[in-house]
Amino acid sequence: KRHLISAADLTRDDAVHILDTAEEMARVGDRTVKKLPALRGRTVCNLFFEDSTRTRISFEAAEKRLSADVINFAAKGSSVSKGESLKDTAQTLAAMGVDAVVIRHSASGAPYRLATSGWIDAPVINAGDGTHQHPTQALLDAFTMRRRLVGPDAGLGQDLTGKHVTIVGDVLHSRVARSNVDLLHTLGAHVTLVAPPTLLPVGVETWPCEISYDLDSALPKADAVMMLRVQRERMNAAFFPTEREYSRRYGLDADRMAKTPDHAIVMHPGPMVRGMEITAEVADSDRCTVTEQVANGVFTRMAVLYLLLGGNANEPTPGQ
Ligand code: CP
Repeated sequence: KRHLISAADLTRDDAVHILDTAEEMARVGDRTVKKLPALRGRTVCNLFFEDSTRTRISFEAAEKRLSADVINFAAKGSSVSKGESLKDTAQTLAAMGVDAVVIRHSASGAPYRLATSGWIDAPVINAGDGTHQHPTQALLDAFTMRRRLVGPDAGLGQDLTGKHVTIVGDVLHSRVARSNVDLLHTLGAHVTLVAPPTLLPVGVETWPCEISYDLDSALPKADAVMMLRVQRERMNAAFFPTEREYSRRYGLDADRMAKTPDHAIVMHPGPMVRGMEITAEVADSDRCTVTEQVANGVFTRMAVLYLLLGGNANEPTPGQ
């Protein structure tokens, strides 16, 4: 495949191959080899039209660990504020000889447009577009689940068949939820979405998952509970849920955590709103994988970059 636009585009074998490659990247890192020469001489541009902490820094770290030259573009402070279009921005990058583009954009479909427009002849990696997709987040989440829940040997070659994942919160605005439902289904997991009816999108009943409005009843079977942030910036203020009412019905606290199996993990893509969807006590507990997800994001993004730019499914990965 040339681009990574949607988790729905990945087959089970594609996804397992990316997770296995990420595992090799992690092992190389563990052996204190800080940099691999895989992308030496290649230039990757991180094109961020929307704010990001984890994804932006993680891609940059992944690119640098693969020895790529990195160009960081943020819409703030660029000529986008003067009205420059995505097309003209892309053609400017093409003229500078960029070998791959990582793009985050508030408009759903912007990465697809960039990949199919012919404005730039380079692989495009979606780093989150509007409410549509965030495929590398889903991959790093699957990597984290496989390491924690499948094993031994970090589940190399295996998928997530039979695992139960409960995704809780603002599904309506969540590209993380969409990407995870797609990828987890492909990897054989059972997904239950738990949300207030007002925070579920039209057509969600056609997604490959169960829907519930009752968090307490969904917890006892969960191997992983993934909490989502309420995305106020994408809502009309008139529809903001109150913090107290939301956390009473859909927040994860220690009492609710006690209803999950002992091995269950708590995940969150970040940024977290402590006190709203998750209490500080749960967020800081050993069962919460938030910082592990961030660390795994670097390995997963190294794998995606390596496979799209420098690697080949038939060649050995760097750790072999
Ligand atoms: N998980 C995630 O996408 O976080 P950022 O918005 O900080 O990149």
